[in-house]
Amino acid sequence: MADPFTLGVASGEPMPDGVLLWTRLAVDPLATDPARPGGMPPRAVEVDWQLAEDERFTRGLRQGRVNALPAWAHSVHVRVAGLAPGTDYFYRFRAGAEQSPVGRTRTADDPGSTRPVRFAVACCQRWEHGYYTAYRHLAAERPDVIFHVGDYIYESPQSAAVVRALGPLPGEADTLREYRLRYARYRTDPDLRAAHAAAPWVPTWDDHEVLDNYRGRGDGSAGFLRRREVAYQAYYENQPIRVRPQGGGLQMYRRRTYGTVADFMVLDTRQHRDATTMLGAAQEAWLLDRLRGSPVRWRVLVQPLFFARRFVPGPAPNLRTDSWDGHPAERARILAAGAPGLVVVSGDVHNAWAGELKADFLDPGSATVGAEFVCSSISSRPPATDGPAVLAANPHLEFFDGRRGYLSCVADPGELRVAFRAVDFVDRRDAPVRTVAEFRTDGSGLTSENASSK
Ligand SMILES: [Fe+2]
Repeated sequence: MADPFTLGVASGEPMPDGVLLWTRLAVDPLATDPARPGGMPPRAVEVDWQLAEDERFTRGLRQGRVNALPAWAHSVHVRVAGLAPGTDYFYRFRAGAEQSPVGRTRTADDPGSTRPVRFAVACCQRWEHGYYTAYRHLAAERPDVIFHVGDYIYESPQSAAVVRALGPLPGEADTLREYRLRYARYRTDPDLRAAHAAAPWVPTWDDHEVLDNYRGRGDGSAGFLRRREVAYQAYYENQPIRVRPQGGGLQMYRRRTYGTVADFMVLDTRQHRDATTMLGAAQEAWLLDRLRGSPVRWRVLVQPLFFARRFVPGPAPNLRTDSWDGHPAERARILAAGAPGLVVVSGDVHNAWAGELKADFLDPGSATVGAEFVCSSISSRPPATDGPAVLAANPHLEFFDGRRGYLSCVADPGELRVAFRAVDFVDRRDAPVRTVAEFRTDGSGLTSENASSK
């Protein structure tokens, strides 16, 4: 067998005592034969895994063997338990004579820990729009955990102008074969693989993992539900997540807690949505309950969509209904929960923003109840946006930047700090990274460390 580890390795879902290890075998990642995804034979393949406390695999070695099955595109999801909290581990896989690269992962902190949590946020990585250099810089930071807030792939047909071509099957993805191939194409980028190998990920999805701007059950047709089902299957096969799709759905909303410092509440703003609700009743009840009851310093909502009101001057529509401005009553209920230390991280709009969350966005004098940090994009092109005009029309928004990048954050018992990291270009390789703004919050408003913001 040729090298089956072309898609790299990953880990995810860090908990104080365990982590999930992932790989997917593909000897030919861009193979288009639907009976042989990744060029793999249609039979089970044995995969050995190892995890240890050091990169030479001598201390605290744990190992096991699993079967990679063709029904799941030869993906492997190994739950490892019984680990120590707040600890780095290294892992690798073997299939036949071939050995995978080594990944580094880390468990979440002990429930009593007050240790600072270093986390990053990324999103929106349309392949043909550019190189993933931002991920190389993010990998070098080796944070405790990386959150991805959606648009990991784009189902869309290849854009008219491309920095790099999609290759096989450049049309719109709407079958299992095409979604699988789209993930494989994206994972051929070495910087994306490096980011997965550098730290555990906790991903959630937005719309393009299935279909642009879809809501819940879409038009309710059997065709759409089948499409969503295969898209969710391909998502699972290609992400280091714990839960398998079942009955056409996939349980996505969940929390990941780091000591007494940070409670990350990861939301699903697509699957349970319809014209009347963003989250659906069950997810909203879960969220409100956790927001009110969490004993932890920072309650971080990890979710794709712009959360604060954002009025865009000019011709209507001035509010974007695909984001939380389409569900203001539900947003108000979340803000009214009175959760101390509320922070929202989001993405979707392909530009970077920061702002304060207000009890009443239409009353600048109302209480500040949290802060929001919007990640721009790893590579996806931004829409034409008059940042200064939007800032002027929304007093609670404080910062705009139009470059590609990610968020590099630290939460500690006193404050939460966010650095907006950006690259100047993605149409060529090797862009350097820089910090374009830094903010901190103590839970009551936002302080800029950088004079270039408003
Ligand atoms: Fe996007």
